[in-house]
Amino acid sequence: MTDVSIQILDESHAEALLQLARDPELSWTSSVPAECGRTHVAAWIKDNDAAPRSSLTFAILDRGVVAGAVTLKRLEAPDSSGELAFWVGREHRGKGLARKAAGLVLGHAFDRLLLDYIHAHVLRDRNPASRRTLEALGFTADKSHSDLPVEGRFAERFAGDAWTFYRLDRPKPVALGEAVVEYQRLWNGYMSDYCGGRTSCFELVEELMRQMLQGEALNVLDIGCGTATFTTRQLLAGKPPRRITAVDGSEKGLLVARHVIAGDAPVTFVKGDLADNAWASGLTAGSYDAAFLGWVTHEIEPRHLLTLYGNIGQLLRPGGLLFNADFMDGLQGDWRNLGGDYQRRRLGTAFPAFNARFEKLPDVAAAITRDRQTRTRWTVRHAPDVHKQRLLEAGFVDAEEVWRYLGSAMVMAIR
Ligand SMILES: C[S@@+](CC[C@H](N)C(=O)[O-])C[C@H]1O[C@@H](n2cnc3c(N)ncnc32)[C@H](O)[C@@H]1O
Repeated sequence: MTDVSIQILDESHAEALLQLARDPELSWTSSVPAECGRTHVAAWIKDNDAAPRSSLTFAILDRGVVAGAVTLKRLEAPDSSGELAFWVGREHRGKGLARKAAGLVLGHAFDRLLLDYIHAHVLRDRNPASRRTLEALGFTADKSHSDLPVEGRFAERFAGDAWTFYRLDRPKPVALGEAVVEYQRLWNGYMSDYCGGRTSCFELVEELMRQMLQGEALNVLDIGCGTATFTTRQLLAGKPPRRITAVDGSEKGLLVARHVIAGDAPVTFVKGDLADNAWASGLTAGSYDAAFLGWVTHEIEPRHLLTLYGNIGQLLRPGGLLFNADFMDGLQGDWRNLGGDYQRRRLGTAFPAFNARFEKLPDVAAAITRDRQTRTRWTVRHAPDVHKQRLLEAGFVDAEEVWRYLGSAMVMAIR
């Protein structure tokens, strides 16, 4: 009996994998180097953490025991393809582990990474086991590649043999629930680079909420929730439990958010334009303990800022807290460019490359079309003092800038 699972290779698998990878025979039929050592395993783990990733290695586990590895390589290919390679430790062979684990990795490659096809190559004559595994997984001969006679050290050992090439196209439409996991992972990395200090800002909000808000449960507004990153963090915040109302005007953002959040989670999504009153009119006045806006108000036309704060003020109970973290003018003179320069230097290509594939999925493309019909985009940097003043005008009793990170700041207000 086997019970096969895969996990993205990390430190917890390193020692067990190294013991298997030290087998000198492995290097003849797999990408494991001869004399595989700690540095090689460490490099595979480091590659897994890179952004963008060009390779991704999974540990194969059988009933929780590390038994081998599967790697997706050449992930930077511009045609949304990847290469599959796998190996199983000597004492774990003959149980179909490679086939089962590679099958799980193919699911990850097609549904989560949105690759269009996977290719692989094996020794034509001397590795019948791997050929059978690929064929059982649905791979067929890649007619665009003729067999390539082995060279170098392989020719010494396997004279007359050749590398033969296989290919497997995406077998079925993408499951959006998987794709949004990768979207959210890369989007969060991108946002952290774009909005410097974003994670430390989330942590501060969570700490202040812990210190200043008590109750059986907390009613929280995530205003301009996007893909629900703050909502997700709130659900994990522990006691007191949260009930969250997440509001956004973007169909694409809400599509991702609805897939990211479990169907039975205490979250209500509201689609609405923050520049008007309609989104708030269906919610209960005075019933919320806290409201969070994360990098939202720079997209709100200045004349609508008071409307937005007025609506949030209505929804918060007396003593309720509002946190608004956003790009805010604060740096003066030449220092103004520091935030923008920081963004430009940090922003990578991992999210845009994936997003291009994601936006082609039919449901996502339809949501974007609807967004384009309804949205006008604004970009404005209000100074923290402008936010403070509007908050006081909207009925908040106090407001202060409590956090700053280059071009971003957070204003906190008490209802
Ligand atoms: C930069 S994103 C930030 C998303 C999220 N708060 C985060 O930190 O990941 C800004 C969000 O505000 C939303 N937004 C901007 N203007 C809006 C408006 N007038 N009505 C509704 N949502 C709006 C956008 O759709 C987008 O999801």
